Amino acid sequence: MKLFRLDASIRPTGSVTRTVADTAQDAWLSEHPGATVVRRDIGAHPLLTTSWISAFTAGMTPADARTPEQAEAVALVAGLVDELVDADAYLFAVPLYNFGVPQHFKGWVDLVLTDSRVPSGGPSPVAGRPAVLVLARGGGYGAGTPREGWDHASPYIKRILGDVLQLDLHVAEAELTLAPVVPAMESLVPLYEQSLAAAHLTAAGHGREVARLLRGQAA
Ligand SMILES: Cc1cc2nc3c(=O)[nH]c(=O)nc-3n(C[C@H](O)[C@H](O)[C@H](O)COP(=O)(O)O)c2cc1C
Repeated sequence: MKLFRLDASIRPTGSVTRTVADTAQDAWLSEHPGATVVRRDIGAHPLLTTSWISAFTAGMTPADARTPEQAEAVALVAGLVDELVDADAYLFAVPLYNFGVPQHFKGWVDLVLTDSRVPSGGPSPVAGRPAVLVLARGGGYGAGTPREGWDHASPYIKRILGDVLQLDLHVAEAELTLAPVVPAMESLVPLYEQSLAAAHLTAAGHGREVARLLRGQAA
């Protein structure tokens, strides 16, 4: 039994997505003790942005005519997609940056989608497999808030993981995470604390649920 975990926060410590993802992972492991967790930390070890250009152009270049950069990028992509295909379940932890998706998460998606095994409009090799998605954002973007509609990350990430990769997606999200450190948001600290507690609770439930779904498939 294998869990693939991807972290995109650039913060090695103090990261909300990482701690909420830890909760989901612990819950999953409590149901599958001894299982393997394969980690790809694109926050700590971002993929080179030039790799995508090389991987994309390699697709239009005969294998024996590829540059060393193209060959290297194709091998990188093969490894990224192998990690995905080899897993039974998934855990993604992705923050909101500058009202959008972290560039290194977008880079990972762009690379993965250059592989012919993952056609962006066709059947996915990981279709139907269970996944937990942990999201965190510093502000609040709910209905009726001044910045409703400004979170351009969550819809994109859900579209890619849920509709393009066709994973069975279970989402846990925390917001207002900047409230404890931004003086102007001080009055929002209680709401942040509620949101964080709910995210951990939801993540634990999703971790167990994903593990249970897998056991059901194995039965
Ligand atoms: C470079 C950067 C840009 C950010 N941009 C936004 C933003 O546009 N909107 C927002 O609500 N929060 C923003 N934040 C706050 C993060 O979404 C928030 O701190 C979140 O908890 C980050 O995830 P992490 O705790 O796992 O590191 C930004 C944080 C950083 C470091």
